[in-house]
Amino acid sequence: MESFLVNGAKTLVGNVNISGAKNAAVAIIPAALLSDTPCILENIPNIKDVQIQLEILQNIGAKVTKLDENTIQIDPSNISCSTISYEAAKKIRASYYFLGALLGRFNHASIAMPGGCNLGARPIDQHIKGFEALGAKVELEHGMVQAHAEKLVGGNLYFDVVSVGATINVMLAAVKAQGTTVLENAAKEPHVVDVANFLNSLGADIFGAGTDIIKIKGVKHLSGRQYSIIPDQIEAGTFMLCAMVTHGNITIKNVTPKHLFAITEKIKNCGAIVTEFDDAVRVQMPNRPISTKIKTMPYPGFPTDMQPQIVAMLSLASGTSIVTEGVWENRFKYVNELSRLGAKLQVNDRTVIVEGVESLNAAPVKATDLRAGAALLIAALAAKGATEIEDIYHIERGYDNVVDKLKKLGADIVKINK
Ligand code: UD1
Repeated sequence: MESFLVNGAKTLVGNVNISGAKNAAVAIIPAALLSDTPCILENIPNIKDVQIQLEILQNIGAKVTKLDENTIQIDPSNISCSTISYEAAKKIRASYYFLGALLGRFNHASIAMPGGCNLGARPIDQHIKGFEALGAKVELEHGMVQAHAEKLVGGNLYFDVVSVGATINVMLAAVKAQGTTVLENAAKEPHVVDVANFLNSLGADIFGAGTDIIKIKGVKHLSGRQYSIIPDQIEAGTFMLCAMVTHGNITIKNVTPKHLFAITEKIKNCGAIVTEFDDAVRVQMPNRPISTKIKTMPYPGFPTDMQPQIVAMLSLASGTSIVTEGVWENRFKYVNELSRLGAKLQVNDRTVIVEGVESLNAAPVKATDLRAGAALLIAALAAKGATEIEDIYHIERGYDNVVDKLKKLGADIVKINK
């Protein structure tokens, strides 16, 4: 069993390079199977979720070649299978993107219900509603989602909830459908735009990604190009908070500052000094953070994927903060673990009340999901003494080379194997 051992209360100073965005990469990898010819993807993060998506792609017949540490070539020309097994799909939520991509390529897809972080109910009714709007018949049988169409025909669709996954999945299915598809109440996250930009670079005709109406004119063929994945806004935000809790001074490089706007504004309210450059942000934190009020929302609101991490930071703020989860029904499972380090947290339905303490103290803790793990890491970096974080596979699903990146900033952290 692997753990992180963090000897906290060290000031973090220096530069860190942010990797490619997990949530863009896990969608663009399946999207590549819509191309007739090989694609080259750059800025691919070295994380577990990406490895799993690549394995699924290889299992159905694609050829994946690693060109360098962060560049891969995907040749999808020999894919013949449109079924994704339970064994593969249970490992990762984003395996559902194979449903839209395979449906778009073969007019047929069959995939086990996806797994992933347990954040409460994670329905896929909006994905299904979208495929049906394109003329597909979708059935759920023995834990498998089966989608089939004689041919896919563009349609109009209004999503009942703003869903990143449904927006991307229906875009994947619609890109080669006959005619025009209009998606209303679409998600506007940077990774939705990145998937659209990737598909457009292959010859797709997608207009409006990044707004809440996306128009997709179906095309017959897509052909491979070289494409670079956007930087990971959540990894960047996590390092911004590492600077805050350690009274540090970190320059976070290879980011798109616009994507970080909601995080930047919020941490400035909490007393951080943030300097923006073209593709970097510097976060300095000479004083103790100040409490605030936050509600997570779809982009451009404050991201739910930063909620556990900001609670970790606010647990050290002066005053009482109120953080409300506006996206997921159950995203407070980390609270008990954070409390072991001395955080004073009280959950009430979808809100956590954070009574700031002067300092946190080391204790053994367990990551319960990816961002919960990131929150524990932030807290452990601030805490006095040596904290052991167990179940770090959750953290490694989404953070590329996190130990080395933190060590370079002056953290005392090692990965241990017991
Ligand atoms: C993606 C991200 C995840 C992030 C989330 C919200 C990936 C791989 N994961 O997850 O890290 O926390 O966006 O920013 O990109 N919903 C429905 N029906 C559906 C689909 C969703 O009711 O068919 C609801 C969900 O229960 C949730 C909300 O819509 O309450 C948002 O979910 P969604 O945006 O779809 O999240 P994911 O795409 O799964």
